[in-house]
Amino acid sequence: PRGLASRGCVNAPSPLLGCSFARGHGTACRRRAALSCRVIGAPRGAGESAVGGPGARRPWQEHFVDFPETLTLKMVSSQPKYDLIREVGRGSYGVVYEAVIRKTSARVAVKKIRCHAPENVELALREFWALSSIKSQHPNVIHLEECILQKDGMVQKMSHGSNSSLYLQLVETSLKGEIAFDPRSAYYLWFVMDFCDGGDMNEYLLSRKPNRKTNTSFMLQLSSALAFLHKNQIIHRDLKPDNILISQSRLDTSDLEPTLKVADFGLSKVCSASGQNPEEPVSVNKCFLSTACGTDFYMAPEVWEGHYTAKADIFALGIIIWAMLERITFIDTETKKELLGSYVKQGTEIVPVGEALLENPKMELLIPVKKKSMNGRMKQLIKEMLAANPQDRPDAFELELRLVQIAFKDNSWET
Ligand SMILES: Nc1ncnc2c1ncn2[C@@H]1O[C@H](COP(=O)(O)OP(=O)(O)O)[C@@H](O)[C@H]1O
Ligand SMILES: [Mg+2]
Repeated sequence: PRGLASRGCVNAPSPLLGCSFARGHGTACRRRAALSCRVIGAPRGAGESAVGGPGARRPWQEHFVDFPETLTLKMVSSQPKYDLIREVGRGSYGVVYEAVIRKTSARVAVKKIRCHAPENVELALREFWALSSIKSQHPNVIHLEECILQKDGMVQKMSHGSNSSLYLQLVETSLKGEIAFDPRSAYYLWFVMDFCDGGDMNEYLLSRKPNRKTNTSFMLQLSSALAFLHKNQIIHRDLKPDNILISQSRLDTSDLEPTLKVADFGLSKVCSASGQNPEEPVSVNKCFLSTACGTDFYMAPEVWEGHYTAKADIFALGIIIWAMLERITFIDTETKKELLGSYVKQGTEIVPVGEALLENPKMELLIPVKKKSMNGRMKQLIKEMLAANPQDRPDAFELELRLVQIAFKDNSWET
């Protein structure tokens, strides 16, 4: 990991409040990581030519896409299905639009990823495999309505394990790390999902005064989402406030807290069945991964080392919850945005907690930073979530239970 060898002993850590410190946010790390991710969960035989010849299923449905000129996603034989209204987000791999389903007028978000580089294809497929593997819906996990694959002027709905030649070309591209289709064609993947109208967790929380009720609600929603994902064998690997979106639509008159949606599954991993018994789903806490990926401030120490399980998500959530309760932020040097995230201070530098723990696993974290910002149970729970040894961290199910107990039995996480 970057810079570790050059740093001396870790001083007594002192996480800082406020936003006077700035540091790069690790997007390059994420990009590098995505490049080196090994694609697992691809259908067997990917890369072999599986479609074609007499009797093969015709891969193209009667759709085509006419975009961006008209901002409209069209079907040939009927009216356009979606109208794209405006751009709402732009990541390193694609553009996200607010859109409307013509038939129902329902609002959706449409994420468009251009598949011109293996790295993009891999990210898109990871997101597709994770979201399409979820059989039921969870209120706090973004729901994938459909995924559409576009080649030049033609489109088809993408389905998991499809034998369409186009889908298999994408899988092959991702596995080999090189484009396995005609580079003269333009390939796009379109993800249609729930639209979140309240921005991300950074924007939502940092534009409001700290509120105990909101914090409690957010902790419960996040732990519930994580328990759901882990039960469904999904390790997210990039939990951070930018990837937690807010839906305010049901807020109209009630005083309910907004709904959080965990989004951006571009780095996620679906753990397959255990080797000994293929019928038995493997516990995500026993599924070992080796690609060091994520965003540095939220990465667990063992992720930096490249040997980790779903407990890495627990660590990331620990960083997020600690930062939320104490309003610990830093400025991302690239985007100049203020972001929620706890860290340790070494001299004049701020260092990700996971990176500091890797250097010194015995380091005592100063939780809470402000004396009265949380009660003993909450403090103990965050300390356990951020334990250097992943085995000392609660799993997602225990975490959910303990947070419910703290929220409802104690009536308050405050002192
Ligand atoms: N479902 C959605 N509703 C509203 N905005 C979204 C939605 N999904 C993504 N966005 C916006 O687009 C940005 C990038 O999307 P994301 O899925 O995180 O992709 P990336 O891999 O580029 O980070 C998000 O930070 C958010 O601002
Ligand atoms: Mg993102």
